[in-house]
Amino acid sequence: MKWTTYFFDELDSTNTHAVHYPVGSVIISGKQTAGRGRNNRFWISQRGNLFLSAVLPVFGDNTPLLAFVAGVSLAEALSDLPVFLKWPNDVLLNGAKIAGILLERNDNKIVAGFGVNIINAPQEENIIYPTAHLPAGYTPQSVAEGLLDKLSENLILFKKSGFLPIRRKWLKFAAGIGTKIKVSLPHEICCGIFDSLTPQGAISLKTSTGIRLITAGDVFLSLKEKND
Ligand code: BTN
Repeated sequence: MKWTTYFFDELDSTNTHAVHYPVGSVIISGKQTAGRGRNNRFWISQRGNLFLSAVLPVFGDNTPLLAFVAGVSLAEALSDLPVFLKWPNDVLLNGAKIAGILLERNDNKIVAGFGVNIINAPQEENIIYPTAHLPAGYTPQSVAEGLLDKLSENLILFKKSGFLPIRRKWLKFAAGIGTKIKVSLPHEICCGIFDSLTPQGAISLKTSTGIRLITAGDVFLSLKEKND
């Protein structure tokens, strides 16, 4: 994918703005006044962090799996650091979230919005897991360049070979496999051992009542509950 990048000093949300651009466009803003996170949460967007939206094509039935293409690409761009991916695509450093990704569909386009904490680590609304920012030496520009290179590479791979190689890469970065996790679903909290990622991108959770497949929800890693 060849990218055409547009820079803005301030926008409401790069994701909102990006829907007016064709596939292959990238929108970067210095700050956002109405940044959005997953599940209708607000994404606090102070100057100094990276706010980037890339306009991607749809991939038929595989379109939802772009969430993993995006996550793997960002993790690879930051792989000089010991980063992990929390399902589906939060990037963690030392157990704290340093980046989030929001994919939104608009007709025949997908807007993939990346928020990376470069110098600020705002706490997310209604979320109790910790946040952090990158160590010194990273800039919005350097992270954006690395991310767009990896995203381009992984989109080609996804188009050519499907989800299999992306899943393999994702599993290398996966946080919490084989451990007890908690998943907050709209009407319940589900606990179990994070067994694997299915070929459809769902979490396979071993619970006391059997295997459960989870396709949406907020994952909480039970780091402090290893001995439970
Ligand atoms: C999450 O909840 O973890 C996803 C956060 C995604 C934030 C990014 S910042 C750039 C883009 N524009 C937005 O309004 N949201 C995404």
